[in-house]
Amino acid sequence: MDGACAGDPSRKMKRVALITYAGLLDGGESERLVLPYLAAAGVEASIVDWSAACDFTQFNLVILRTCWDYHLRGTEFTGWLQRTAQTVPMLNDVETVLWNRNKFYLRELQALGIRIAPTVFVRGSEAIQAEEWRQIRSWKKIVVKPAVSATAHKTWPFESATLPSGDELKNKMQGEPFLVQQFIPEIETQGEISFIYIDGAYSHAVLKRPAAGDFRVQKDFGGSAESFVPSAAQIEQAQAIAAAVKHVGDSLYCRIDAVEKDGKLVLMEVELIEPELFLGLGDGAAERFAIAIVRRM
Ligand SMILES: Nc1ncnc2c1ncn2[C@@H]1O[C@H](COP(=O)(O)OP(=O)(O)O)[C@@H](O)[C@H]1O
Ligand SMILES: [Mg+2]
Repeated sequence: MDGACAGDPSRKMKRVALITYAGLLDGGESERLVLPYLAAAGVEASIVDWSAACDFTQFNLVILRTCWDYHLRGTEFTGWLQRTAQTVPMLNDVETVLWNRNKFYLRELQALGIRIAPTVFVRGSEAIQAEEWRQIRSWKKIVVKPAVSATAHKTWPFESATLPSGDELKNKMQGEPFLVQQFIPEIETQGEISFIYIDGAYSHAVLKRPAAGDFRVQKDFGGSAESFVPSAAQIEQAQAIAAAVKHVGDSLYCRIDAVEKDGKLVLMEVELIEPELFLGLGDGAAERFAIAIVRRM
């Protein structure tokens, strides 16, 4: 059995597993910041690789955190998720995770009146319709990304003039569903705002910017993240999104990623699986997260 997994049953403390992956066995910085607050509340926390041999029933609660390979091991991860959630409480819950896995949820949110980047949603088996091509060709720059992805995996920008054909796009996406999206230049010029929610309530925000010459804000590609105080109007718009998406209010954690364009937020993602929560960049955020965990145990 994995070292992080084995506990000491004689201590009779409540136990929580913070789920990570093989590429980050010590968990993320945010998770490590929460540990002392959990310990102070009498909860023993272990950071455990989801794919390690581990009897998860020894935990009172399993929390998905830095399982950052889930999109690369889709079937395996989903199998683990469903099996494990049958034997031990898991947050965020499986129904929420499965809903959030596929970026087609953005289409549902758009139908609720939430502003998203102009998007054509393509199922692997369907052709892009003529009307959709007209829309795509009207955009100067385009981003193509798989419906199930993370960390900007297989996220490709194209100039309109060099856009591949439908068949080429499908080959690139290996027959999986994908999104063709208008490129939002404000991500490069202003950055992407992450609004972090803990137990359904707004906690803090972060501004993520790409490195010069890149459009991806992720740390993996040289992107930066800094503490950010949104305007009252921005918080109000984030709250409107949070209020419209029932999963936000029900979940232990959530991150709403958005970019301001022409004075209004454009929703990029509602992250309910394994978002970096940037707890070190929000005053009291690590303690708030620990309290929220304890409340759920
Ligand atoms: N329409 C877009 N316009 C500009 N940049 C984009 C667009 N879509 C994605 N990106 C960039 O690619 C990154 C990854 O895309 P995103 O939709 O956030 O998926 P994920 O975080 O799941 O990989 C974003 O953080 C952003 O930097
Ligand atoms: Mg993202």
